[in-house]
Amino acid sequence: MFARIDHTGVAVEDLDAAIALYEGSFGMRLVHRETVESQGVEAVLLDVGENHVELLRPLGPDTPVGRFLASRGPGLHHVAYQTPDIARALDGLRAAGVRLIDETPRIGIRGSSVAFLHPAASGGVLTEIVQPSKEH
Ligand code: CO
Repeated sequence: MFARIDHTGVAVEDLDAAIALYEGSFGMRLVHRETVESQGVEAVLLDVGENHVELLRPLGPDTPVGRFLASRGPGLHHVAYQTPDIARALDGLRAAGVRLIDETPRIGIRGSSVAFLHPAASGGVLTEIVQPSKEH
């Protein structure tokens, strides 16, 4: 069902400071920056091998990442697994009784299709599944 880890999502308060750490100190290449209104974030992708780190700055306090920062502070937010067929993956998860946040995929960063599973269904780990767009 899952091909590999696509990215780890990190919630940050200061995006420029986070970029300075990941790009400047860790030497990862910044490959994409985008405001994703549907998720209430400004997001940055950095390459690490075939995978990515996704830095997430909330667009406001009343967004999922804004509420996460208010309650837990900056840090690891979610893990994302890549799938070649997100509709099929969601069907499989539903059939396995896994509770979903997104019953249908929505548009994520770089035109990908994404859906989140409920953290209560995945051992407290907020889990995203990603089908990359054809271009990526
Ligand atoms: Co993500």
